[in-house]
Amino acid sequence: ATERTLSIIKPDATRRNLTGRINALFEEAGLRIVAQKRIRLSDLQAGAFYEVHKERPFYASLVSSMTAGPVVVQVLEGEGAILKNRSVMGATDPKKAEPNTVRAQFAESIEANSVHGSDSPENAAAEIAFFFAGTEILP
Ligand code: CMP
Repeated sequence: ATERTLSIIKPDATRRNLTGRINALFEEAGLRIVAQKRIRLSDLQAGAFYEVHKERPFYASLVSSMTAGPVVVQVLEGEGAILKNRSVMGATDPKKAEPNTVRAQFAESIEANSVHGSDSPENAAAEIAFFFAGTEILP
């Protein structure tokens, strides 16, 4: 089925001017960027977005890495978009990511791993609503 997923191009990637190369990988995989904006997350926003990880030892460092520079938040649409995006991204840890994935090619570390993508339909819906109004999504 056609799905939507929330993607974030993280500060480590925007800093290195990789937005276009990452978007090309999404588009080549058949994902359509149906909404996109470049924003700077506040500590409050990044902390709320990653609320599920708040007990993890890396939470504070994750929040500060996500606020270190601009991010590009986007909605990707396509057949099986959630899994498709996860296969384009590769594993969280770039050392474990398949060759040619975004993280294998571009991630600096397990934390500065260049992209985020929703991991389930429920989380995709919640994460899309966190950043976008329905009127901002144009398939
Ligand atoms: P993301 O897909 O955005 O979801 C949670 C993020 O936490 C993850 O990508 C990484 O940026 C970060 N993360 C996950 N595991 C670790 C870890 N072991 N150490 C540091 N950061 C991590």
